[in-house]
Amino acid sequence: MVKKVLLFLKSYNGFVSGEDISKSLSISRSAVWKHIANLRNTGYVIEAVPHLGYRLLSIPDKLLPEEISYHLKTKIIGKKIFYYKTVNSTMDISFDLGVKGYPEGTVVFAEQQTKGRGRLGREWFSPKAKGIYLSFLLRPQFLPQESPKLTLMAAVSINEAIKKITGISSLIKWPNDIIINSKKVAGILTELDAETDRIKFVNIGIGINVNSPKSLLFKGSTSLRAEINKEVSRIELAKEILRSIEENYFILKKDGFALIRKKWKAQSLVLGKRINVYYNNRFIEGEAKDIDMEGVLLIRQDNGFINKVLSGDVISLEK
Ligand code: BTN
Repeated sequence: MVKKVLLFLKSYNGFVSGEDISKSLSISRSAVWKHIANLRNTGYVIEAVPHLGYRLLSIPDKLLPEEISYHLKTKIIGKKIFYYKTVNSTMDISFDLGVKGYPEGTVVFAEQQTKGRGRLGREWFSPKAKGIYLSFLLRPQFLPQESPKLTLMAAVSINEAIKKITGISSLIKWPNDIIINSKKVAGILTELDAETDRIKFVNIGIGINVNSPKSLLFKGSTSLRAEINKEVSRIELAKEILRSIEENYFILKKDGFALIRKKWKAQSLVLGKRINVYYNNRFIEGEAKDIDMEGVLLIRQDNGFINKVLSGDVISLEK
């Protein structure tokens, strides 16, 4: 019912009387008051003026499911949202949900992670309410070796959402770092539950430094706020990411990888550059030529040999 009261307040620009709320939702005036008090406790700023009623002034800077789903208009991504103040890692929660059979598109948000993880066993620093930390479930009918396509699809989606909300054209450093002005602003972690020939589910984690002040950023990383010198709405960005993921995921499932690949190539920081990648216990150096239809990076070594690199760590990249 508290959600209904919130929606009611949102549907009015100005004041709405307690009596109107109580009549329209068939609840008592004291119940209205109780729900307003709850909303205020959550961080909603609601003005109350005698004879005029209540007016919603502002919403809290929290990735609350009711805010994320408000006018989201997606079909699967974000239809079910879990929200936590603090977790070890949204990846663990989302993995559990995957095992329990939750539908694809289920999303987990956290305001803070105490054991946020990145690729290759690295830590993902997740300070409270400064970033977006989310994981979501997909159940594509893909072979496990096709999973890089999903990571690339997620990277393209993040870039499109960042562009829409902030105007910044971020780039992708293969395989999954989102870069602005040579600094990392976001990362993607893809984990699978799979058999040899079948993905049971994919768990894609996204971490974005949104409003971290410079003092909270590591060397080589940045935040959206640091780039444009103003706070970015985490809620609006999170919603745009979910929309963009849905759009690109549908494209991927319906039309195959071609369009995602084209978008990815247009946003790539590595293609055409000299690159040194650590993969499978060895270093591969050469020119990043292309990504193939499986989402695998093709590196042309100086002897002309084309190496297919599924994933890895970029050790150096020509500026
Ligand atoms: C990387 O750049 O190495 C990937 C970083 C992925 C971080 C996100 S934050 C939400 C989700 N939960 C985690 O523990 N990791 C991912």
